[in-house]
Amino acid sequence: MSDVISTIKGMANGLSAEPTTELADALAEAGLTTHQSGGRLVLSEPLELLDTDLIRRSVPGDILSRVEAHWSIDSTNSYLMDRASSADFHGWLCLAERQIQGRGRRGRQWISPFGKNIYMSLGWNLSSRIGLEGLSLVVGMQLARTLRSAGLKDIGVKWPNDIMLDRGKLAGILIEMATPRQGLIGVVIGIGINLQLDEKDAGEIDQAWSDTRGALGIARNKLVANLVSDLLEELPRFADTGFAPYQDSWKKFDLYYGREVRIQLGENFIEGVNQGVDSRGNLLLETEEGQQIFNAGEVSLRALS
Ligand code: BTN
Repeated sequence: MSDVISTIKGMANGLSAEPTTELADALAEAGLTTHQSGGRLVLSEPLELLDTDLIRRSVPGDILSRVEAHWSIDSTNSYLMDRASSADFHGWLCLAERQIQGRGRRGRQWISPFGKNIYMSLGWNLSSRIGLEGLSLVVGMQLARTLRSAGLKDIGVKWPNDIMLDRGKLAGILIEMATPRQGLIGVVIGIGINLQLDEKDAGEIDQAWSDTRGALGIARNKLVANLVSDLLEELPRFADTGFAPYQDSWKKFDLYYGREVRIQLGENFIEGVNQGVDSRGNLLLETEEGQQIFNAGEVSLRALS
């Protein structure tokens, strides 16, 4: 298999390849289309594969302990959760061209076809004394900032951390925590971004979705490097202060701030006006019975208008 992967990497760099059954199978599995030129195979569409050297060189400082790009993996989050007690865990960046069992929040699947999107997880140790509730909102706001500066001006966040573009979900964040040890808690920050999703793949998604097609001003590897650099700047700030200082800036990102929304809590629906978040990142909802507070783990939110 590794020979076939090298061949496909060469093809991504513009080389042609001898047609073999093994290559045809690997190309089909990756969903890559080819045509023949002089009896040899060439890729029909440009393919920018993940480049760990470029990403490492573009991220300032030496905080990243490891940078890995997998051809195919079950889930980058699961991979790092299994390594949370490793000495290298802090700053371990795991990327993949494809996930077989990409995981979303609330037990959902994250559709992860080959080579077109971003699937990344970062291992990070935080003091177990700080409240981690707001971390996913902080990562969401940072992700929105990075995407805005990459050319996607209309990006917003839907509480707690769905990144939205044109009323569809563009990116999602899954933060998982390992068992605390010696005053530290290992968190895996998983980010999935739809850069280019085909209708065929998107057919399996049970909510409105979007991708960045045509609107992104920078290349895939550069976007990963920017995301990681920005996160590495933001995480120490959050570690110092927790969520409270971010409470006000949330309003600038919250797509549904001040609007009528519906919350689903188990089988129940509650409607009210979204009033932003408290100092821990919980949702504040003004309902007919007065203000109610919701924790991200327990509810999901839909806009009513
Ligand atoms: C969500 O449901 O909004 C969260 C989606 C998170 C998807 C990313 S892709 C990289 C990482 N690995 C996973 O299995 N999930 C996260």
